[in-house]
Amino acid sequence: MDTDLVNKAARPFLAGLKRLILVAALAVCPVAGHAAGEPGTVQLGIVSPPDRSVLESPLVNLVVRVPSQAVDELQLFVNRRRVSLPKRDYSRYTVCFDGIELYSGANDLKVVAMKGGKKVEELHARVFYRSDLTSDASSAPDGFKRFQFHAYQTEKVCMPCHQLEFATASEGETPAASSPCYQCHKKLLSSYANVHGPAAVWSCLSCHSKRGTPKLATVKPDSKSCFGCHEDIWSSMKYGHGPTAAGSCATCHDPHASNNRYFLRVSAGDLCLGCHEEIATKAHVIVGFSNAGHPVRRTPDPYHPGREFTCISCHNPHAGSSPYFLQNYDESAPISDFCKKCHGM
Ligand code: HEC
Ligand code: HEC
Ligand code: HEC
Ligand code: HEC
Ligand code: HEC
Ligand code: HEC
Ligand code: HEC
Ligand code: HEC
Repeated sequence: MDTDLVNKAARPFLAGLKRLILVAALAVCPVAGHAAGEPGTVQLGIVSPPDRSVLESPLVNLVVRVPSQAVDELQLFVNRRRVSLPKRDYSRYTVCFDGIELYSGANDLKVVAMKGGKKVEELHARVFYRSDLTSDASSAPDGFKRFQFHAYQTEKVCMPCHQLEFATASEGETPAASSPCYQCHKKLLSSYANVHGPAAVWSCLSCHSKRGTPKLATVKPDSKSCFGCHEDIWSSMKYGHGPTAAGSCATCHDPHASNNRYFLRVSAGDLCLGCHEEIATKAHVIVGFSNAGHPVRRTPDPYHPGREFTCISCHNPHAGSSPYFLQNYDESAPISDFCKKCHGM
């Protein structure tokens, strides 16, 4: 992966940058915007993400190397959809963009380099946003590799201009602007309506270990860290639901932010069907007069006023005291007690 990042033509440029490390380290600001390369030796290219990367986040950073005077605008297309990029200083050799939104599964990032309104070159990086929540995104095509950015070999390209040593950073609440993660990961929070408590106060290091291997890794299973702050009311229940029982909380919950309530990665109406596709097509619970089975969505939930009727109306996503984790239902009672919660008497 590291050799992908440092292409041959760019080596003299990097050697130049290395000499600048001292200079950058002395700068008060964590980013030295004036780092210079050696004009003429820099080749246009996508530095990050490398081609054929696998990511598990809906956002990716884009870093492009631009030779001096060669470019005055970059245009970005994600799977052919134009994404507007903010203005950048193209005389700096490296231009960086935070939080490019990805589609679930395959993404083609096409960067078109422009000069004076004309196309100079077209660059591509293919990335795969992997998720266990949809069968078509659960495994990447052959030849794609999980991108691990935070490792010295990969980070060193950025180090002349960015602070990537976190040993002394605080693990607690941090003002956004002084968080060592803010500059490159702000959109992880700012792009979404609901932000999770510890992420909202930028205590990123309360879950990502400074001394972890790989760097900034989280404790596995996820539940170990979640239960540090949330009461574990589920482990003691008789029946645990697959991914919850395995402690894979972050499969369903985005630990940072989401537009869905409870930071669900996918809306409550679609969440379960990614892993239980068959429920959408077969009659469920009971076959009604429409022969379509019990409705599982697009109707109000009589039991939870104000909410749409979904799988969660009947099933607890975590655990329960019946084999199918039926909400507030104990298997020792007749099943009709459960039905009566919504169907009167
Ligand atoms: C030549 C110096 C330089 C290098 C090398 C560099 N950056 Fe940057 N980066 C900057 C500057 C300066 C900014 C501040 C925003 C701006 O003015 O473009 C920045 C901003 C960013 C941002 C935030 C962009 C935004 O939209 O707010 C990200 C993300 C980023 N850099 C990632 C990286 C990564 C990853 C690397 C290494 C692969 C890297 N940078 C290498 C100078 C550099
Ligand atoms: C110089 C920019 C930069 C800074 C600063 C930075 N990151 Fe990253 N981080 C990246 C890039 C680039 C990736 C690759 C995925 C992407 O593009 O979003 C990444 C990926 C990650 C990943 C996924 C695993 C990996 O290594 O690829 C984690 C976790 C992460 N960052 C956490 C953090 C945390 C926590 C902080 C603050 C302590 C932080 N990062 C600071 C640029 C940065
Ligand atoms: C509540 C715990 C928690 C907090 C707080 C937290 N994270 Fe994470 N983060 C996780 C978990 C869990 C993952 C998934 C890691 C995995 O399964 O590989 C993750 C993944 C990531 C990733 C990579 C996504 C990918 O490709 O896998 C980035 C980037 C990241 N976190 C950055 C941050 C930043 C920046 C902050 C602070 C604003 C932060 N995190 C706060 C738990 C947390
Ligand atoms: C450092 C403490 C901390 C950790 C670790 C943590 N959380 Fe949280 N979580 C909070 C706080 C604070 C809130 C917001 C206050 C509240 O609603 O309880 C919250 C809220 C939530 C909510 C919304 C609850 C509601 O009723 O609105 C969910 C869902 C959640 N967290 C899931 C998780 C998951 C999943 C993990 C593990 C990946 C996790 N949390 C790890 C502190 C934490
Ligand atoms: C199969 C998906 C899934 C998994 C796995 C999962 N959750 Fe949830 N979680 C949900 C859904 C869906 C809701 C919303 C329930 C609702 O709307 O009533 C929720 C709600 C929550 C809430 C807030 C409301 C409540 O019920 O207390 C917390 C806290 C929470 N989950 C934490 C966790 C933790 C910790 C784990 C891992 C041990 C976990 N979740 C695993 C789907 C999941
Ligand atoms: C990440 C994949 C995943 C997601 C998302 C998921 N499940 Fe599951 N579910 C499983 C696994 C794995 C099992 C245990 C293996 C099995 O019996 O199929 C399971 C088992 C179940 C069972 C018991 C099935 C049986 O025959 O014993 C029910 C009921 C269930 N899930 C409902 C739900 C509901 C409701 C949701 C949404 C809140 C959901 N699942 C989301 C993976 C998932
Ligand atoms: C969480 C609430 C809830 C629970 C619990 C529930 N239902 Fe329903 N049921 C509904 C809703 C909502 C409808 C759709 C009614 C409508 O659209 O007017 C429905 C419709 C039906 C229908 C009619 C289907 C059709 O063709 O229109 C039958 C039969 C039925 N339920 C049986 C049951 C049985 C048997 C149980 C217990 C195993 C049960 N329900 C549990 C909410 C619930
Ligand atoms: C009206 C309540 C209700 C709703 C809504 C509901 N279920 Fe169920 N589900 C049940 C009951 C009751 C059972 C017990 C077995 C049975 O009677 O079919 C069950 C069984 C299951 C099972 C195990 C048996 C099987 O058929 O495979 C799975 C998996 C499951 N449900 C998933 C889901 C998913 C996914 C959704 C949403 C798309 C959903 N359920 C919506 C009540 C419901």
